[in-house]
Amino acid sequence: MKIVKERFAGRRAVVTGASAGIGRATALRLAAEGARVGLVARRREALEATADEIRAAGGEALVLIADSSAESEIGSAMDKAASEWGGLDIIVSNAGIELLGQDDRVDRLETAIWEKLITTNLTGQFLTCKHGARHLLAAGGGAIVCLGSNCAYLGMATNEPAYSASKGGVLAMMKVMAIDYARLGIRVNMVIPGFIDTPMNAPVMKDTKELAYWSNQIPIGRAGTADECASAILWLASDEASYCIGTTLIVDGGQASI
Ligand SMILES: NC(=O)c1ccc[n+]([C@@H]2O[C@H](COP(=O)([O-])OP(=O)(O)OC[C@H]3O[C@@H](n4cnc5c(N)ncnc54)[C@H](O)[C@@H]3O)[C@@H](O)[C@H]2O)c1
Repeated sequence: MKIVKERFAGRRAVVTGASAGIGRATALRLAAEGARVGLVARRREALEATADEIRAAGGEALVLIADSSAESEIGSAMDKAASEWGGLDIIVSNAGIELLGQDDRVDRLETAIWEKLITTNLTGQFLTCKHGARHLLAAGGGAIVCLGSNCAYLGMATNEPAYSASKGGVLAMMKVMAIDYARLGIRVNMVIPGFIDTPMNAPVMKDTKELAYWSNQIPIGRAGTADECASAILWLASDEASYCIGTTLIVDGGQASI
């Protein structure tokens, strides 16, 4: 990577799920455009690799090992980044999991799998926003971008009711936060990725038949990239989106427009 622009010069960001996929791409892009970036995930090695890439290009990154669904861990991670930089301006609430083959039709779905998806994806984003918003309020405002999914409002993720419900919850929470914080200087918005080539979709990307099947469902005819999602996240986090509150920006190659 290379530091190219200064759209986020002076801004202090925290990105959850920054060790892979969309979160990693977002962290690299924020750093490339001048932000100092706190990298949250559970695996040190993968986070250090992202941080090394940022530092090698002259950017600033902080490795924050935390499970975003564990309140003390994500709370401490936000506190650490804020105390290092004197506050925070941008929160990208991105960490999430999908449990393909375990998430299942409701009558067959193990309650423990339901709880794991809701805890990681919904409670995790709640806690990220809760502890991130504390610091944005202290800084006098900022931007939060949550990651959603088309399956929050379309029954497209068949046999994935728990993942879909977790994303439906995040969408509802995001809309209410957007209004609650509108006059407090925090803009809350959401990026909705479609079918994106990330480690989350690695099994499908590797299977030629599955990949062809899913690509055919998408008007543009291919999976999206993590970088294409990062572009949308950066725009919503930037001052260019100053009049966007509670917006859902869909990055799905037209999939939800069929
Ligand atoms: N890839 C897609 O097609 C797609 C589609 C719609 C929505 N999304 C959403 O976009 C977001 C990013 O997805 P991705 O494809 O980059 O996923 P990914 O699996 O490639 O990466 C997820 C990241 O989140 C981290 N993570 C997971 N659980 C965590 C936890 N409890 N605490 C801290 N970090 C945790 C992982 O370590 C990893 O860094 C997710 O919220 C996902 O639901 C992805």
